[in-house]
Amino acid sequence: MRGKFIAFEGCEGCGKSTQMRLLGEVLQERGIPHIVTREPGGGEISEEIRKIILNGKFTQMSDECEALLYAAARAQHLRDTIEPALARGDLVLCDRYIFSSYAYQGYGRGLSLDFLEKINEFAARRYMPDLTLFLNLAPANAFMRKHGADENDRMEQAGAQFHGRVYEGYLQLLRKYPNYIEAVDCRGNKYQTSQNIVRLLTERGLIR
Ligand code: TYD
Repeated sequence: MRGKFIAFEGCEGCGKSTQMRLLGEVLQERGIPHIVTREPGGGEISEEIRKIILNGKFTQMSDECEALLYAAARAQHLRDTIEPALARGDLVLCDRYIFSSYAYQGYGRGLSLDFLEKINEFAARRYMPDLTLFLNLAPANAFMRKHGADENDRMEQAGAQFHGRVYEGYLQLLRKYPNYIEAVDCRGNKYQTSQNIVRLLTERGLIR
């Protein structure tokens, strides 16, 4: 049987990687075959594209170039990593996916959502996750958890206003795509958040 596909979304430092690790441990204990992957990246070619996109030196990169590079990395990641895992029947946990492009390049950079939908439909061939989990933590709190922005990361350097727009964008996407995205309550500690995630996935029939 084809596997299920779950994407994780949220602002910088919202604890996505920790939550993905904790969920991986639960899946391991339950004997559920899975892979953990990320965007941009998750494969040899996509990881190379990632280095270009995030390189802190490339301050002159145009918004259009940025959006197309994320979509290009996504097209290759799907082919190299996600599709084969789903075909094997694995559960795929993906750190960021299409909604990152809508939140960051759309609401953050100000590119049109129409344009982003077009290039992402082309790149992802309408391949949507069975569920996208949005870790609902505002960027001020998120950056504090992570001790500030990384100067080598072009996206983290984009400034507080940009990250504020990204967060507001996610809130709008939640309203726009209620069948695709579910918000996770992150106000408790990391173990409580992890329990919230396991509960949501169980309720949706995505894990046993
Ligand atoms: P990463 O270091 O993985 O950030 P995080 O740990 O917060 O996930 O870098 C990914 C960066 O790329 C992050 O700033 C979000 C951004 N991004 C986009 O702007 N658009 C996209 O489509 C994707 C997948 C990521």
